Amino acid sequence: MKKREQLLKLRDEAQLGGGLDKIAAQHKKGKLTARERIHFLMDEGSFEEIGAFVQHRSSDFGMEKLKVLGDGVVTGYGTINGRLTYVFSQDFTVFGGSLSETHAEKICKLMDLAMKNGAPLIGLNDSGGARIQEGVVSLGGYADIFYRNTLASGVIPQLSAIMGPCAGGAVYSPAITDYILMVENSSYMFVTGPNVVKTVTHEEVSSEDLGGASVHSAKSGVAHFTAANEIEAIQQLKKLLSYIPQNCEEKVPSLPYTKADETRKKLADIIPESANQPYDIREVIEEVADENSFHEVHKNFAENIVVGFARLAGKSIGIVANQPAFLAGVLDIHSSQKAARFVRFCDCFNIPLLVFEDVPGFLPGTDQEWNAIITNGAKLLYAFCEATVPRITVITRKAYGGAYDVMNSKHIGADMNFAWPTAEIAVMGAKGAAEIIFKRQIDQAEDKAEALKAKELEYGNLFANPYRAAERGFIDDVILPEETREKLIKAFAMLENKVVNLPRKKHGNIPL
Ligand code: HXC
Repeated sequence: MKKREQLLKLRDEAQLGGGLDKIAAQHKKGKLTARERIHFLMDEGSFEEIGAFVQHRSSDFGMEKLKVLGDGVVTGYGTINGRLTYVFSQDFTVFGGSLSETHAEKICKLMDLAMKNGAPLIGLNDSGGARIQEGVVSLGGYADIFYRNTLASGVIPQLSAIMGPCAGGAVYSPAITDYILMVENSSYMFVTGPNVVKTVTHEEVSSEDLGGASVHSAKSGVAHFTAANEIEAIQQLKKLLSYIPQNCEEKVPSLPYTKADETRKKLADIIPESANQPYDIREVIEEVADENSFHEVHKNFAENIVVGFARLAGKSIGIVANQPAFLAGVLDIHSSQKAARFVRFCDCFNIPLLVFEDVPGFLPGTDQEWNAIITNGAKLLYAFCEATVPRITVITRKAYGGAYDVMNSKHIGADMNFAWPTAEIAVMGAKGAAEIIFKRQIDQAEDKAEALKAKELEYGNLFANPYRAAERGFIDDVILPEETREKLIKAFAMLENKVVNLPRKKHGNIPL
């Protein structure tokens, strides 16, 4: 065969992965192949493959006779919306996408290129885990990937989509990356599968109930996003990438923006009459951010805090907001973890932070204390303290107790702190405060209820407002809700060239 034809034949062979039967089986499960996923992800015609001729080196169990070009993973680079992106896509049609020594080498080569060239890395995971025929060599391959994931953390964005099985130690590569997206009903992640669970703990559980998309997006918080199908998953990856710069040295992406009337009258009607009534903080976010730009992260997990990306005057920002519509917006273990991770991500990649605060404090109780709300609440505190990106807070209503300090207060490095006239900045709510500090007077009063009410009013008049904090400069300005968007656009523009130098250190010791 002529050399030229030999190349073309090998190319065709590589395109087929595990062969037509295996491709049909993949489609029958409602799944796309590794190459189809790349086709939908990358800009048309932009994908360039690396390592299509790689083969495994194993010779145990007759493996020398079972070689497939590419060895179960398609790797390469191309563009997404015009921006350079590296991608690996595991091919389930080849030994169930299992990870061999050479499969791992291909991924590592790609990661090294992504790091040297400062561009995002996307992993499309669909794999039976370690290539069982290869034993420890495969485990070594995983560890090589974990190591690179860690070195790349905070340097380039790393996104993981789970589009099939992801079990055993294999879950730890996605877990180190910045975001995990799972496809509903066709993907799962667990350290040990249902059979091992049954043997060890006698629990009977399905793969879906143990580690499906709904479990990890709502209960464990392992997954940040879910998608109804693979096409939607790919669209979500593209959207997510649009808010994030290429690497930690770049400024955030920016869309064209034309100055207009930035007054948002609707904001004036969102806070209810009574301080105990809930409202949806997303309404505030939607009004303040550029139209339809809010992209929520971790939507179904720890719903008492809302986090996500948005654009303000065309530029990406990260939003952290207490959610009064869920558990009154209280801070607890999960919400602290969720927000801390988001704050740290934004800080890694120069994405300015906007905080909406309406928080009654930390959630009391043995469950919280015994599961370390102290350590976990400290994560959020630490993450804010350490963040050097532009940081602005808007207090819409309650800012009580320790939560006032934690939620991006001036004292821990926020640049601009605004309060609406409805803000109540105090150690605690007026009733609780009156019960403690006027206990004796109330006990001695003839009508105790009446006495409590009077003292509650007295404390409320003094502290249930933003002016005591503004008097001290803890609040930079008290603003009307409808002015918020304009004030924020101006303040973020003013902070665009902010520079903060933290004390020299190897790295901090965040309370993990
Ligand atoms: C080699 C594998 C494989 C593996 C699947 N295959 N997993 N080959 N190593 N890990 C092969 C199967 O033999 C089969 O080959 C083909 O892939 C498709 O697999 P099926 O079982 O037919 O598919 P399905 O019914 O969809 O089930 C998929 C599956 C199952 C749930 C992933 O294959 C499975 O349980 N595999 C083993 C998972 C596992 O225990 N992996 C090791 C985890 S420990 P043929 O030729 O028949 O088509 C681990 C440690 C990592 O990963 C540690 C890192 C620190």
